[in-house]
Amino acid sequence: MDVVDEVKDRLDIVEVVSAYLPLQKAGRNFKALCPFHTEKTPSFYVFPDSQRWHCFGACGEGGDVFSFVMKMEGWDFRTALEELAKRAGVELRPRAPEQIEREQEVQRLREALAQAAAYYHRLLLHAPEAQAARDYVAERGLSPETVERFLLGYGLPQWDALRNHLTEKGFTPDELVEAGLLVRREDGTTYDRFRGRLTIPIRDVRGRVVGFGARTLEPKGVPKYINSPKTVLFDKSRLLFGLDMARQAIREEDRVVIVEGYMDVMRAHQEGFRNVVAQMGTALTEAQVRLLQRYTRRFVLALDPDAAGLQATLRGLEVARESLEREAEPVFDPRGLVGFEGRLGAEIRILSLPAGQDPDDLIGSDPQRWAALVEDALPVVEFVFQQLLAQADLEDAKERARIVDRMLPLLRDVRDPVEREVYAQKIARVLQLDERTVLSRLHHSEREAVRGRRKPSAAPAPARRPTPADLEGYCLAVLLRRPWLLARVNEALAEMDLEPLRAQDFNDPAHRAVFEEWEAMLAEPQPSAERLRERVPEAVGQLVEELASGEENLSDEQWVREGVKAALRLRQRNLKQIEADLRALTREAEEEGRPEAAEYGQACLEYARAILRIQQALARPWG
Ligand code: UTP
Ligand code: MN
Repeated sequence: MDVVDEVKDRLDIVEVVSAYLPLQKAGRNFKALCPFHTEKTPSFYVFPDSQRWHCFGACGEGGDVFSFVMKMEGWDFRTALEELAKRAGVELRPRAPEQIEREQEVQRLREALAQAAAYYHRLLLHAPEAQAARDYVAERGLSPETVERFLLGYGLPQWDALRNHLTEKGFTPDELVEAGLLVRREDGTTYDRFRGRLTIPIRDVRGRVVGFGARTLEPKGVPKYINSPKTVLFDKSRLLFGLDMARQAIREEDRVVIVEGYMDVMRAHQEGFRNVVAQMGTALTEAQVRLLQRYTRRFVLALDPDAAGLQATLRGLEVARESLEREAEPVFDPRGLVGFEGRLGAEIRILSLPAGQDPDDLIGSDPQRWAALVEDALPVVEFVFQQLLAQADLEDAKERARIVDRMLPLLRDVRDPVEREVYAQKIARVLQLDERTVLSRLHHSEREAVRGRRKPSAAPAPARRPTPADLEGYCLAVLLRRPWLLARVNEALAEMDLEPLRAQDFNDPAHRAVFEEWEAMLAEPQPSAERLRERVPEAVGQLVEELASGEENLSDEQWVREGVKAALRLRQRNLKQIEADLRALTREAEEEGRPEAAEYGQACLEYARAILRIQQALARPWG
């Protein structure tokens, strides 16, 4: 915590921001064209007094120096802290010796992976044994530039070529096993994992090699791809292939296109579609959505309509997850996606590919068609509805009713109540059913779902509440008590027509880091404050312990109330802060007779209204 404050004290936000964009003086403050969305007149402001920034234009984002560099560079909190500390000349934590040692070990693994990628790459370019691989690359239409940019390579067919190469450079077999490059046999001996295959390095956002995908050159009979196993550096569910190369374009276009495979990404980039990344054959995870949200909130998923996962999912939304075999992990999980939209404020659309074609084929044969399909992608709910319609016999009343049944769980997951009703109406219209029937079934199913969620609460114990050190800390402390609480709080906010809680709601970067990590953890099995403590950067570990300490037994409903109240108060404070900044701007513009004054005045009013809404919500009797 102190480190964070120290960094903030030593850095001037104006200086940091102006290293990225030209700032113009505007009275006491500074303005610029917003780097996070396209605009012609500047609505991005930096306030030296409060050391904050805010965009009053389309993106409406704002925050402090940490959130600025995180957004600008796509860094996570940890990285931002490291980099800003460096700039501020602040020494980060006296690290424990074991920790330094572990970091050095991980650094060795990174080096091994980087050297492996370089080695494979050289082989692909020059080794006589790689002729078949070079032919394959040419036959797939990958250009020499693509081979370079993606650092494609070739692993020799021998069982020990890479091991020999890297052990000669001083790496131990143990390290190479830990990096996922070698496989260990039962008897303890090791062998190269990627043999006789085209190797595709997988890099993290910062462009560092963390693993490999390796494609066979054989037409059939062997697994098409062999990938790195899960290692300390490689976790498929938290990575996206191509993101290091795509992030700039994703930000510029304010949209990301997510495809399934390596080849799709490489072909897309080669043809100039640079905002494309791949989820590497698994369903999109929350961690991936969060990663992408640093660059955009607009997602397009390109789905292969023949995919087993998609078909099974559409046959029965509710049972799909259990009925699918483990290997055939569903690539498409509509409820999960709609959940992301509600919880994370993402806008997810589905692009339906022509049968039998993947993006690779399509982009190769008809790039314009691809571009058009991206534009025409449908919201998740509509996509599912269209698919169900296409497969049903609409003459049959029973089948029409079945479609409604399949849509209900999905509709329930739609956060915005108005949107939900609009969908229900549309479904009724298209299926020629009575609107009221569909709506009443929706409402009935909503009530059922709520009832299912509520657990019978035990005899009310004397209520003790976490001591509110400050508003932000209190809000966090409450949220950390129960893994389901954040979702419930967000639902309540949605009902009041307010945005879900976001990391940006917290001013203190340490609080923000805790919130972010907690949110990410909630998407995984068994979230807990203990495990959270291990995952946050050293500098905030102590904070988590403080937040999570103390014995509290409130009932579930009491916790929800505490959470909602804290969230509302937090939101209110933030809006007031922005409103104050905005008022200052308005005054200045008025004094100088600038025309923006009216616009700012208008924006002030909107903030004032939002604040009023929150005050009313807070004034409501709570239970
Ligand atoms: P695809 O079979 O669509 O692969 O699987 P692709 O990338 O289009 O490859 P080509 O065009 O057949 O050469 C999509 C993704 O699923 C993962 C890979 O990440 C692949 O890119 N996958 C697929 C595996 O991990 N293992 C496999 O055996 C197959
Ligand atoms: Mn393919």
